[in-house]
Amino acid sequence: RYGLGTKRLARNIHYRETIDSTQRLAHQLVQEGCPDGTLVIAEQQTGGRGRLRRSWYSPKYTGIWMSIVLRPDLPPQMAPPFTLIAAVAVAQAIEETAGIVPEIKWPNDLLIGGKKCAGILTELEADTDRIQAVITGIGINVNETDFPDPLKSIATSLSLASGKKVKRALLIQRILEKLEKYEEIYLQNGFAPLKILWESYANVAGKKITAHTLKGDISGSAVGITDDGVLQLEGEDGQMHAIYSADIEIER
Ligand code: BTN
Repeated sequence: RYGLGTKRLARNIHYRETIDSTQRLAHQLVQEGCPDGTLVIAEQQTGGRGRLRRSWYSPKYTGIWMSIVLRPDLPPQMAPPFTLIAAVAVAQAIEETAGIVPEIKWPNDLLIGGKKCAGILTELEADTDRIQAVITGIGINVNETDFPDPLKSIATSLSLASGKKVKRALLIQRILEKLEKYEEIYLQNGFAPLKILWESYANVAGKKITAHTLKGDISGSAVGITDDGVLQLEGEDGQMHAIYSADIEIER
């Protein structure tokens, strides 16, 4: 099959050769009233942003740097699963196009052989009771052959991992089609049916982890995620903790 098979996603596209951050432009477009499904995509970012105010290495032509604006009519409490839904869409699209199965590290990292190949940054514009927009930023290291120094030991690309060049256009198309389909499932049936799919790629259940949260560190054993996408952690004290947002360190 040729061409993009989406109905809503990427029917409005903002393509840039170079941009500071697709995420920044997507926020601006939301302010200007852009439609649901708007895609912002660039060949290179000079100020790519990661989670927790980290920067995101986004060299020219080799990777996928894009932000998708979704405008579901939902209350803000329903936003967290969007990160997980995007992670599943990206993981599956990688599996189909590069032939390797990435691991999802809750909530938003995709790893191959323990090294990061992709990250997802979900940001929300919302009133107290309604989501205005979910801005899903997706960064994938696709055909990079090398990384600059601090990244060398922690990052990989799909071509480094698979030994072949991966077609970015095909990967983008697959991601958008899956994201559209899974968002529809989520809107109709909630996160529970997607959780099974998410768990098939996830690597935390049963592992000893430390969650670095804004309120401090919690160590224990990861039990899994709830139907709302919240991480369940059984603390060393035997108490259950619900982790909404954290950086996870997996012990080996
Ligand atoms: C992370 O793992 O910390 C998330 C990384 C998200 C990077 C993408 S690249 C496209 C979009 N624009 C940005 O500035 N960041 C996201």
